[in-house]
Amino acid sequence: MALGYDLPPNRVQQDEYWLFANDRIFGSCRIRHRLIAMTELDRGHIAYEIRPSARRQGYGTAILRLALTKARLLDLDRVLLTTHPSNHGSIRVIEKNGGEFQDECLSPFTGETVHRYWISL
Ligand SMILES: CC(C)(COP(=O)(O)OP(=O)(O)OC[C@H]1O[C@@H](n2cnc3c(N)ncnc32)[C@H](O)[C@@H]1OP(=O)(O)O)[C@@H](O)C(=O)NCCC(=O)NCCS
Repeated sequence: MALGYDLPPNRVQQDEYWLFANDRIFGSCRIRHRLIAMTELDRGHIAYEIRPSARRQGYGTAILRLALTKARLLDLDRVLLTTHPSNHGSIRVIEKNGGEFQDECLSPFTGETVHRYWISL
């Protein structure tokens, strides 16, 4: 997927990174190189997760900050992030990385409400 070979329909080139601390995996993130109609409404450019036992220690904020440094290398002016409105941890992570709320829409994947944020690079 990183090289963009043999991508299935509705998939775009995507890089995956793993967050290591003290030789342990603490989280992962994915950076999509561009948006398509579906990811404009949900999923956006960047997704991330921190292992449950390591949450609320700053790693979520750190992994998005590090992902943004990688996104800058893709020559993007800004990146779209989406989250469920009840995902307070993810909302804080986005806000702490400069995210600006755009709007609320319905996910084409789940049918649920999604909040969209932009982060300028
Ligand atoms: C969302 C997620 C990445 C946050 O990771 P994290 O390591 O806990 O984040 P941080 O420790 O950097 O916390 C950032 C802020 O969010 C707050 N926060 C974290 N989890 C929270 C929760 N469940 N409820 C309320 N606030 C929360 C922290 O207190 C902190 O706020 P503060 O700086 O104002 O004190 C993590 O919960 C996760 O992996 N969730 C499942 C996957 C997911 O939802 N990914 C995001 C959508 S792509």
